[in-house]
Amino acid sequence: MCSWTLRRYVFEELRDDFYMSTTSLTEAYRQFTTGVAFITTHGRRGPNVMAAEWTFNVSYDPFLISVHLGPSKATHAAILETREFGVNMVSEDQITAMGFAGHFSKHNVDKLSSDLFETYPAKRIRAPMIRGCLLNAECRLIQQITMGDHTSLVGEVVEFSIDSSKSPVILHKGARRLGARIERGVELAVAVTPITMAPGSTISITGELTAPERGARDVYVAIVDTKGGEVSHADTKTGNRGYFSLKIPLPQDIGPGAYAVVARYGGAQATARIQLE
Ligand SMILES: Cc1cc2nc3c(=O)[nH]c(=O)nc-3n(C[C@H](O)[C@H](O)[C@H](O)COP(=O)(O)O)c2cc1C
Repeated sequence: MCSWTLRRYVFEELRDDFYMSTTSLTEAYRQFTTGVAFITTHGRRGPNVMAAEWTFNVSYDPFLISVHLGPSKATHAAILETREFGVNMVSEDQITAMGFAGHFSKHNVDKLSSDLFETYPAKRIRAPMIRGCLLNAECRLIQQITMGDHTSLVGEVVEFSIDSSKSPVILHKGARRLGARIERGVELAVAVTPITMAPGSTISITGELTAPERGARDVYVAIVDTKGGEVSHADTKTGNRGYFSLKIPLPQDIGPGAYAVVARYGGAQATARIQLE
């Protein structure tokens, strides 16, 4: 069992005594889906690589990447010491290297001596970068935040390159390949603002029509009572991207209770609930 898995395991066992079952915690962790990065550093103990699935792009401008590391990791110490690190997103043909980087520590092993890793010098930081990855990003540490038993280390990207021919490793109940893109049919979504209102007020309706091709389309919108009787309706047009918004005044003379806004296009239909007081 790798130390990270072991750590989770021990942690779960302790918690179990108090209020949660080990099985439910383990299963809860396994519902998340992530990619994985090789985090590279070059501290006073030399160059190193570790695997980190908790690696996220957390801001576009500036381009920020946050990695979440256990404080006992050699990488954690090296990042705080040098205030920089490399993020190298793991591709599906690097799965053996990923396991190796994640199951052993620089505390005991010089992982980068293995021929599993082909490195090249970074342009703006001292840490080596790993070849064969989807994204190589050179980061300067700008913030560190303790989060439970891990530290969020946020780096600003000062240099990056991408290889779009590579496919990522996906972690979800084990390591997986990226699957097929979800094909969207004709689908509708609609919501109202506010949810609760008085008769005679004007209701704001916002919706989205998803269709395989872009283009403006006519959508029929109605306000109906619980028996399906229409109390008001309107035709509206989507923009090219399928979004629509309109306002419909409610009649003064309708009673309080539950109503629905129904949007229709072709065979697709969506509803949103409203409450008249
Ligand atoms: C697939 C995978 C993902 C991992 N993700 C993380 C992570 O996000 N954060 C973390 O602290 N450890 C993570 N680990 C565990 C570390 O990679 C592991 O503890 C490693 O030995 C640390 O190396 P170092 O001490 O040389 O820095 C992961 C391990 C694996 C196998």
